[in-house]
Amino acid sequence: MHASDAATASATRVPFQGPTMALDLPADSFRRYDESPDPWFYTQPRFVEHIDDGAIAAVTQLYRELFPTGGRILDLMSSWVSHLPAEVDYRQVVGVGLNEEELAANPRLDAYLVQDLNASPSLPFEDHSFDAAGICVSIQYLTHPVEVLRELGRVLRPGAPLAVTFSNRCFPTKAVAIWQSLDDAGHAELVTRYLQAARNWSDIRALDRTPPAFGSDPLFAVVGLRSASEARATV
Ligand SMILES: C[S@@+](CC[C@H](N)C(=O)[O-])C[C@H]1O[C@@H](n2cnc3c(N)ncnc32)[C@H](O)[C@@H]1O
Repeated sequence: MHASDAATASATRVPFQGPTMALDLPADSFRRYDESPDPWFYTQPRFVEHIDDGAIAAVTQLYRELFPTGGRILDLMSSWVSHLPAEVDYRQVVGVGLNEEELAANPRLDAYLVQDLNASPSLPFEDHSFDAAGICVSIQYLTHPVEVLRELGRVLRPGAPLAVTFSNRCFPTKAVAIWQSLDDAGHAELVTRYLQAARNWSDIRALDRTPPAFGSDPLFAVVGLRSASEARATV
């Protein structure tokens, strides 16, 4: 499909009327330059690191601090690397992403699932069946982030941690428009609002874990705990 065809297709699409709309953001906040189906963009595996070693170490350290040893971990928007601390054993690590070759090559995953979260935000997992979750350098690609984060809350046990990490890089044709219009502080505010709108997260905090080394990629996080009470609305 040419870009112009994609634009036409998306312009005639019925607008999504889910909880993401409750964010009250400008119209077209979740449009992307490339509106072709996401699996097309991820057809070829990319065995690359998306942030530098210092920023990866910061993600790993955050997971080390937050994720319980022996827990069942969900790596959402996963690839061939999960950045989990090598010395920590988990009961099971499950990855969800778009490229099967990458997921199959990820040595930390015990199980994986290929699922387009923009086409289908519902997660095929039991309620309260995970002890922690991470979304690393990927939240900017979600067109229905509140629905996905609410689902993530559903599958985590009450009190379980979530770490959403991000830097200042992205695939610009696939990142949503609102992400591209904001700076680092704005990204942290946006992800905080996503979690608040999902209504099943508590203790939401924005962190700057940028490594001190000059020239390192910046690394930011928004973390939260799966709240004790259920969100009233369903996805
Ligand atoms: C920049 S990569 C980050 C991968 C990995 N989390 C990491 O830290 O290296 C973005 C990831 O988001 C996933 N992704 C992008 N759009 C997605 C979608 N619509 N549904 C599910 N996963 C998606 C891709 O599979 C890809 O692995």
